Amino acid sequence: MKVAVIGAGVMGHGIAEVFSIYGNQVFLYDKFEEALKKGLEKIKWSLDKLYEKGKISEKPEEVMGRITPIKELKEVKGSEIVIEAVPENFNLKAEVFKEVEKYVDGNTIIATNTSSLPITELSQALLKRDRFLGLHFFNPPVLMGLVEVIRGEYTSDEVFAKGIEIVRSISREPIPVRKDVIGFVVNRILFRIFTTACRLTNKYTIEQIDSTAKHILKFPMGIFELLDFTGIDTNYLISKEVMKRGFDFTCPQLEELYKKGYYGSKSGKGFYDWSKGRPEIKFLPGPTPQELLVDAVKEGRWLVENGVSTDEEVNKATRLGLGWPKGLFDYAKEYGL
Ligand code: CAA
Repeated sequence: MKVAVIGAGVMGHGIAEVFSIYGNQVFLYDKFEEALKKGLEKIKWSLDKLYEKGKISEKPEEVMGRITPIKELKEVKGSEIVIEAVPENFNLKAEVFKEVEKYVDGNTIIATNTSSLPITELSQALLKRDRFLGLHFFNPPVLMGLVEVIRGEYTSDEVFAKGIEIVRSISREPIPVRKDVIGFVVNRILFRIFTTACRLTNKYTIEQIDSTAKHILKFPMGIFELLDFTGIDTNYLISKEVMKRGFDFTCPQLEELYKKGYYGSKSGKGFYDWSKGRPEIKFLPGPTPQELLVDAVKEGRWLVENGVSTDEEVNKATRLGLGWPKGLFDYAKEYGL
């Protein structure tokens, strides 16, 4: 299959890598030459790691050989699917869709990897809206086993089914998101945990909060570590977009860091100093699991009660999308929430 990925940043390069690993012909576009170069370097680094560990059997050069960097959007012509992964800015994404639609034919699926913008709203930039859907990957796409498949108001049944099939073809678990709600499934839960953690800083240090996440709940990363890892800039832009649409994502610390240019792991500093690699999170007594999870569990119930997801899907989505050892409702039972 010919796949085009628009945007070679944190998510775009990872999405391109996954498609290439599974034998697809990938065209990777970025408006900025430097970003494209960096994206390709990161793919190479990641493929080398995967090869060394025996996680891929094909040589990295061969996988890289299926990825063609492109400098003009018109080169997406002939793609079966175009996946947009540019920054979380509505107008920027809308411009990309309008431009892409000029070059592809009627059968091409156009997907967005947005984390925070409504699919229906974004699809309004297109002339043919039934070809559009959300395919939401998790960072880093090459290690995370989940992709949310989101239908907007105009997405056709055929395109939605094809989206699920494409996700399976790259060996990822598709989670259908039945309603186009802000943050879909995983991020609605994650945003609650982020805001809870930010609020808890009036009582605990970030190290104490992250200690509960990492050492008691056994999450793969602390909450503030994850904010840094996914990017302070990305999370700040997301928080602005979702707040505009009525979803509470209050975290004043994000704005402070963003304004100082502390974008997290990618810039070497965020909540933590990343100049020497991942922060070491020591065990410290901190908030209880109940304090940290209560709002997330309420959000999970909201998703089920409003027909967006099922109990089983919420559990699967939090395990595979966030790398938790247990699903959200397993924790809820364990801690009597
Ligand atoms: N490709 C290949 N290898 C990679 C890699 C990549 N992209 N990233 C990390 N690795 C490697 C590391 O280099 C390391 O290799 P070595 O053992 O040789 O040093 C190995 O993977 C394990 O990494 P770590 O020891 O640093 O850490 P880990 O065991 O905790 O695994 C992780 C890393 C998979 C990222 C894990 O920490 C994790 O699952 N974290 C949570 C991530 C998460 O929640 N993602 C979703 C965020 S939300 C989102 O993305 C949506 C949104 O819209 C904002």
